[in-house]
Amino acid sequence: MPRVASTFTCGPSRGVFASVLIVSCAVVAACVFALPGCSKKSSSDSGSDPKALIVGFSQIGAESSWRTAETKSIRDEAKKRGIDLRFSDAQQKQENQIKAINSFIAQKVDAIILAPIVETGWEPVLKQAFAAGIPVILVDRGVKVSDDSLYTSLIASDFVAEGRMAAEWLANALGGTGNIVELQGTPGSAPAIDRKKGFEEGIAPHEGIRIIRSQTGEFTRAKGKEVMEAFLKSAPGQINAVYAHNDDMALGAIQAIEDAGLKPGKDILIVSIDGVRGAFEAMVAGKLNCTVECNPLLGPAAFDAVAKAVAGETLPKNIVVQDRVFDQSTAAEVIDSREY
Ligand code: AHR
Repeated sequence: MPRVASTFTCGPSRGVFASVLIVSCAVVAACVFALPGCSKKSSSDSGSDPKALIVGFSQIGAESSWRTAETKSIRDEAKKRGIDLRFSDAQQKQENQIKAINSFIAQKVDAIILAPIVETGWEPVLKQAFAAGIPVILVDRGVKVSDDSLYTSLIASDFVAEGRMAAEWLANALGGTGNIVELQGTPGSAPAIDRKKGFEEGIAPHEGIRIIRSQTGEFTRAKGKEVMEAFLKSAPGQINAVYAHNDDMALGAIQAIEDAGLKPGKDILIVSIDGVRGAFEAMVAGKLNCTVECNPLLGPAAFDAVAKAVAGETLPKNIVVQDRVFDQSTAAEVIDSREY
């Protein structure tokens, strides 16, 4: 893959250089203003050898099968395109992600892909990337910033819609009445906030449905099991359904329910989000009732966005990934075609 653009020519610290180019070449000047805060000069313009694009990827960690599938998709796509990918695993800590971004800036990468663990606290580091003229593509989760030009584009599912779809499926399966326990994702993360919101909106028209317990299971199977055990102890015989913000927590809850001598999927209905292979296996086994897909295969879209950003093209602020609902009625039929 040729290094499409190796030299940033604008952004606050590049203003003088940008001005020189504007004076010397009208065509380049047009490119300079195509993308706010950054634009690059192609290495082919200078006649130098083509080099691989350098892209930094700050990943949250490996808390779920979904996350592992997303990492694989981004690594595989980088390899396919001959991109020099600098990968950093933050091990669930925002401070590690901020350090990684600072390091990518120091390495003068061509672009940064960021999967932000939580929504807030990104403004200072995104300002630094912007000042360095490095486009930042957000994947999977959004951020809250006062100026959304600090990032180039967000490629993600609509988490509110996912929560709503889970609620509609469950309200229908419960026949409009029942007690639900909720396993939330990582506190402060976009999917935990939005999936809760969407689910609450979805059950709101059903007066007979209540959420009787709600706690974080941190998107992990182990924590999902632990929290479900506590729910079963504190509300014995009262739980009709589980709503888990991801499949891994639902799979942990299934173990807790079985350990308590109950039948998951029958005595207690379970709906979750992601659509990973383990969820399809659990549906085929009759232990999980429904999963709302959240597609983690974001590599191709992420690098398409990177390529456009470094070429100075304007990108849509939000690229929304389309998701579907799967339940036991189709699980066996589609399981072999699942890619993650
Ligand atoms: O941001 C997407 C969520 O993060 C997935 O639903 C979950 O499994 C992951 O860890």
